[in-house]
Amino acid sequence: MAKASSRAPLLPLLPVLLLAWAWEADAALRVASYYGDHMVLQKEPSRAVIWGYKDADANATVTVTISNNQSTLKKHTAEVEEKSKIWRVLLSPMAQGGPYNIEIQQAYKKGISNVTLKDVYFGDVWLCSGQSNMEMTVSQIFNATEELKNASDFPLVRVFAAAHVESVEELQDLAGIQLNWSIPKAEILGHGDFSYFSAVCWLFGRYLFEKLNYPIGLIESSWGGTPIETWSSKKALQDCGLSKRSENARSSELISGPKESSILWNAMIRPLVNMTIHGVIWYQGEANTVMNMDLYNCTFPALIDDWRKTFHEGSQRQTQRYFPFGFVQLCTEHQLHPDDTFSVIRWHQTADFGFVPNKKMPNTFMAVTIDLGDENSPYGSIHPRDKQSVAYRLYLGALALAYAEKSTVFQGPYPQNIQVDVLHKNITVTYEESILLRNLDNKTFEVCCFSMETCKWNPVTMSSASSHTVILRNVICPNTTVGLRYAWNEWPCQYRLCPLYNTQELPAPPFVLFSLNNPEWTVV
Ligand SMILES: *[C@@H]1O[C@H](CO)[C@@H](O)[C@H](O)[C@H]1NC(C)=O
Ligand SMILES: *[C@@H]1O[C@H](CO)[C@@H](O)[C@H](O)[C@H]1NC(C)=O
Ligand SMILES: *[C@@H]1O[C@H](CO)[C@@H](O)[C@H](O)[C@H]1NC(C)=O
Ligand SMILES: *[C@@H]1O[C@H](CO)[C@@H](O)[C@H](O)[C@H]1NC(C)=O
Ligand SMILES: *[C@@H]1O[C@H](CO)[C@@H](O)[C@H](O)[C@H]1NC(C)=O
Ligand SMILES: *[C@@H]1O[C@H](CO)[C@@H](O)[C@H](O)[C@H]1NC(C)=O
Ligand SMILES: *[C@@H]1O[C@H](CO)[C@@H](O)[C@H](O)[C@H]1NC(C)=O
Ligand SMILES: *[C@@H]1O[C@H](CO)[C@@H](O)[C@H](O)[C@H]1NC(C)=O
Ligand SMILES: *[C@@H]1O[C@H](CO)[C@@H](O)[C@H](O)[C@H]1NC(C)=O
Ligand SMILES: *[C@@H]1O[C@H](CO)[C@@H](O)[C@H](O)[C@H]1NC(C)=O
Ligand SMILES: *[C@@H]1O[C@H](CO)[C@@H](O)[C@H](O)[C@H]1NC(C)=O
Repeated sequence: MAKASSRAPLLPLLPVLLLAWAWEADAALRVASYYGDHMVLQKEPSRAVIWGYKDADANATVTVTISNNQSTLKKHTAEVEEKSKIWRVLLSPMAQGGPYNIEIQQAYKKGISNVTLKDVYFGDVWLCSGQSNMEMTVSQIFNATEELKNASDFPLVRVFAAAHVESVEELQDLAGIQLNWSIPKAEILGHGDFSYFSAVCWLFGRYLFEKLNYPIGLIESSWGGTPIETWSSKKALQDCGLSKRSENARSSELISGPKESSILWNAMIRPLVNMTIHGVIWYQGEANTVMNMDLYNCTFPALIDDWRKTFHEGSQRQTQRYFPFGFVQLCTEHQLHPDDTFSVIRWHQTADFGFVPNKKMPNTFMAVTIDLGDENSPYGSIHPRDKQSVAYRLYLGALALAYAEKSTVFQGPYPQNIQVDVLHKNITVTYEESILLRNLDNKTFEVCCFSMETCKWNPVTMSSASSHTVILRNVICPNTTVGLRYAWNEWPCQYRLCPLYNTQELPAPPFVLFSLNNPEWTVV
């Protein structure tokens, strides 16, 4: 077994490691750690993969049978690896529903043994990963009491959480589990601060269930204060020129977790690639405001590409090659911040396009959260408590991209055209979709006055807006305006009061655009 080191929670994890060792030693028939009673497996058209370990006997055969109380429905013969102790099976495509029993039976010279997974459903499986804003539990958010009380109304949304484990080598299976597959109830979703279960993951799954009305399986694998390098494979990092172990991490609460390259990919993601999933949601980036920030426009798209490729291959091509990948654009930490690191990461989260999907990030969706700041959060202002809005915005993106409801709008307005009227010192910003003006202010739009080869940013007055345009006046440098930016500030507006939304109340994403080689930029 590969070497796994564990930090918190060390004590609860030790028995798991010992148990894993014991299992390995006697190699009895069993399933991989992340299969269990109450789980949700991926429904059709994909085929769910189940794998596990068998007795060392080379001639053992393993069969996998899906049944309900009345009858056996499907019987499969698993593929067994001659030299290793691994078996795996691709189940027939299964329609949404359940409950089923899945019996795994091994026949070998010593006789027959079996393992049964009970109360298994087929539905959609989503993986939720990232740092502490993904870890924040349902007990830590606004309206926690009511959200927890209502949890048991959703018995077909099933939850599972991987334990915090680091490994310098890729692991075949999880070395620790925080929460086995469970039916939701208050004690499980509100286990404690930053433990389990993720509020964003839970609410996202719950909203999907309310819409789709079939089982949803949620797998959380996240760790607070971790930079993207920890969640990236060696190959993904090499694609961005990061061949050595990551360095230069300023000591900061933003990097309170592990920071070594690939250490969480190896232990907390790689083992999961052998199951079939429907998609991923991701809430990470704060730690990279102090580490390899300028590379995030490469490291993030590279992580997405790499996860897609590996999950596709690992599941014998059952997880879609370009599965939907949703993420949360950074929220806020400080009202008055001396630098623009949050703005840069937000921009880099879109591979510098400002919106998604785009040609570097196909089939992705984004929840913009610049307007959800929470200065008084008891968990620190880096941990805003309105996770309902975060999850709801992700859910809209999933509908549009993962559930083919193409008409669902999940992103606020983005400029289509910028026209600078030099003579009259005004700028007309035109949007493709209808805009909703919340708040005219004189600071959220800024123009770049070009002088001495650099940009000096100056605020401009928002003077009026129609359904598709915003007029900016008092442009102080009409002849040398070469750039325009919006909400380029760590904390651009008060709660839900940014200047621009769309008619579905989704905030306009921040942007920075320059005139150079930009066909959307005109001067009159
Ligand atoms: C496996 O089965 C074959 C054919 O029945 C037999 O020749 C062989 O000895 C068996 N191997 C083991 C390890 O039992
Ligand atoms: C079998 O029946 C029991 C009792 O009626 C029920 O709780 C369980 O969900 C059923 N299992 C399956 C696989 O249908
Ligand atoms: C599976 O194991 C249980 C308990 O050991 C046993 O009662 C049952 O008959 C077994 N089923 C089969 C098909 O071998
Ligand atoms: C909790 O459930 C009740 C009853 O279904 C519903 O009225 C209420 O809106 C729910 N609250 C939340 C926060 O989902
Ligand atoms: C998860 O389930 C396995 C198998 O039943 C058990 O051995 C393990 O202790 C459980 N882990 C936790 C954290 O509950
Ligand atoms: C990423 O952004 C940096 C500036 O932060 C820029 O120098 C670099 O060219 C960008 N890389 C890519 C791949 O867009
Ligand atoms: C998991 O997927 C990887 C990558 O495709 C593969 O090398 C490995 O054998 C798979 N493991 C199992 C248990 O199927
Ligand atoms: C909390 O509940 C109140 C009353 O139902 C509701 O108005 C508010 O929007 C909820 N807050 C969040 C963040 O969902
Ligand atoms: C720009 O300002 C001039 C003078 O005030 C005005 O005539 C023109 O209509 C303005 N442009 C827009 C798009 O409002
Ligand atoms: C913005 O500036 C204009 C003109 O300078 C002024 O009339 C208006 O009151 C200002 N608005 C705000 C919200 O500060
Ligand atoms: C700016 O452009 C206007 C209109 O083209 C022109 O009249 C004016 O002289 C220019 N000012 C400067 C400082 O170049």
